[in-house]
Amino acid sequence: MSPTPPTTPSPPGNQVEPLRVAAQASGKLVGAAVQANFLGDGRYAGVVARHFNYLTAEYEMKWDPIERTRGINDFSGGDAIVRYGQASGMQIKGHALIWHGSVPGWVGGLSAADLRAAFENHIRSVAEHYRGRVRAWDVVNEALADDGSGLRDTVFRQKLGDQYIADAFRLAREADPHALLLYNDYGGEGLNRKSDRIYDLVQGLRAQGVPIDGVGLQMHISATNPPSDASIAANMSRLASLGLSVNISEMDVRIRDLPGTPQARLNAQKSVYHSIVGVCVAEPRCDGVTFWGFTDAHSWINGQFGADNPLLFDEQYAAKPAYYGVLDALWRR
Ligand code: XIL
Repeated sequence: MSPTPPTTPSPPGNQVEPLRVAAQASGKLVGAAVQANFLGDGRYAGVVARHFNYLTAEYEMKWDPIERTRGINDFSGGDAIVRYGQASGMQIKGHALIWHGSVPGWVGGLSAADLRAAFENHIRSVAEHYRGRVRAWDVVNEALADDGSGLRDTVFRQKLGDQYIADAFRLAREADPHALLLYNDYGGEGLNRKSDRIYDLVQGLRAQGVPIDGVGLQMHISATNPPSDASIAANMSRLASLGLSVNISEMDVRIRDLPGTPQARLNAQKSVYHSIVGVCVAEPRCDGVTFWGFTDAHSWINGQFGADNPLLFDEQYAAKPAYYGVLDALWRR
């Protein structure tokens, strides 16, 4: 959905001030989720290389695309993203080893013992393949129920028991002794029942001596009701008090339901990006911010929540007000 073009033409994304320079000045990582098949597009790749110092594979490092046929790992997509990132001096976050949202079809019919074998083989083989090439892994993604009642009922929990989360972290640590190991989830960015469960989960893992280093807060939000800065800051600081790092791992800001003119919606989006990125910049244990894509030309939001303009650059890769909100926050202004 393209809003009425703003009065002042937006400058091309590959010409505006690089976000990564401002991020470096604040000691933070600024990242984007990318797809390997778009990296061949010069406009796409040009904006990625100019602005970001941290890449996440939006899709290609998940279990389903990697091991579509049992026992055969296809690393081509993830390898292309790692190669591109390393060639551009960027760090890589692996995403995600264990997620109920991307499990190969053949997994569903396995017995508990067979799932255990497949689970262990998947974590070992993938983390070993990328050992030394990724800074961090989202080891377990979205393992908690949305209503804050506790663990989500997934095939992993059903067949491997609640212990599967701790097992996944231990297996990942064995396979890659140096990568930061993260728990990642959504809907628990500010203080609420779900973030209380995230806190309880990671506190419990730490108490068991499970090798977990940090928590990713996805931040897929709408500008109509974003979590408050104070609530996000308090949530980040309580996680930090457990000795964990935090990061904003998949940020996008929906504006389609906002009242007002297209320009007013873009300005509201700018202030949401500015204030929430500012919370991370102010929190010493916040590593950085990753956006779930960067151009409105390629966003999962359109398929998931309806056509929208949730990101920093428009469909022609021009810089939106949102980009300036992020730039200012990274420069702490
Ligand atoms: C989404 C991708 O953006 C889509 O392209 C894919 O079809 C499905 O997954 N939470 C996550 C991400 O942790 O991995 C999801 O990404 C979005 C929600």
